Amino acid sequence: MLQTKHDIVCESWSTEQQFYQEAYVLLEGAITEVLSRLDIIRKYRAMKNAKDPIEHCKARIKSAESMGEKLSRRGLPITVENALTEIYDAAGIRVVCTFLDDIYWVVDMLRNQKDIAVMKEKDYIRDPKPNGYRSYHMILQVPIHLEDQVHMVYCELQIRTIAMDCWASLEHQLKYKKDIPNQDMIVGELKRCADEIASTDLNFQAIWDMIEEVQQDDIYG
Ligand code: GTP
Ligand code: MG
Repeated sequence: MLQTKHDIVCESWSTEQQFYQEAYVLLEGAITEVLSRLDIIRKYRAMKNAKDPIEHCKARIKSAESMGEKLSRRGLPITVENALTEIYDAAGIRVVCTFLDDIYWVVDMLRNQKDIAVMKEKDYIRDPKPNGYRSYHMILQVPIHLEDQVHMVYCELQIRTIAMDCWASLEHQLKYKKDIPNQDMIVGELKRCADEIASTDLNFQAIWDMIEEVQQDDIYG
């Protein structure tokens, strides 16, 4: 039996596409735009045999459920308009770097992209959260060109080292575990691990700098 176009589209749409509707394309566009800019610079550096500061990137569009929850928590009606203008992490990218300095390289590189607006920055590396969470957060507005207009789409970036990423994903998993005994002890242990990781990141950076220095000496005599 023939179905209407509408039926066919709806059957294959994800919950997220149903919620965000055509704005889903803008969110996907913002993610693609940022990832592709990072990718081009990485490839260009690779051609010049320069070090790749990025280990990997991950991206997601916030689920309809968690967007609904966040809007309600803020006392806002659950609308696509609010999801795109009042909440800044409908499009989210995580950039995982090798060394500490690489994080600030990514930050500077994004700040230098003339048509991308940096709306907000939080340096949780310089000022870690009390639980030990470390990352550099940026809220960007990325231009997405349609036929007759340009949309500035919010995109949240979390930039961190491999070690910080490892800690954050473990802590995230534990946060949602119910009825954990010795809660205080676990919180304390996580904080201790975060501080150890921070010190290890500093050591990794120092080792890298030392190797770099030796190599520069070899080149320039
Ligand atoms: P929301 O948390 O998004 O409501 O906004 P906010 O203004 O509190 O932003 P913040 O920069 O504190 O956090 C944004 C995102 O960073 C969160 O949604 C998490 O993905 C991540 N994040 C922040 N704090 C923590 C933390 O303590 N642990 C972990 N694992 N992730 C965190
Ligand atoms: Mg938060």
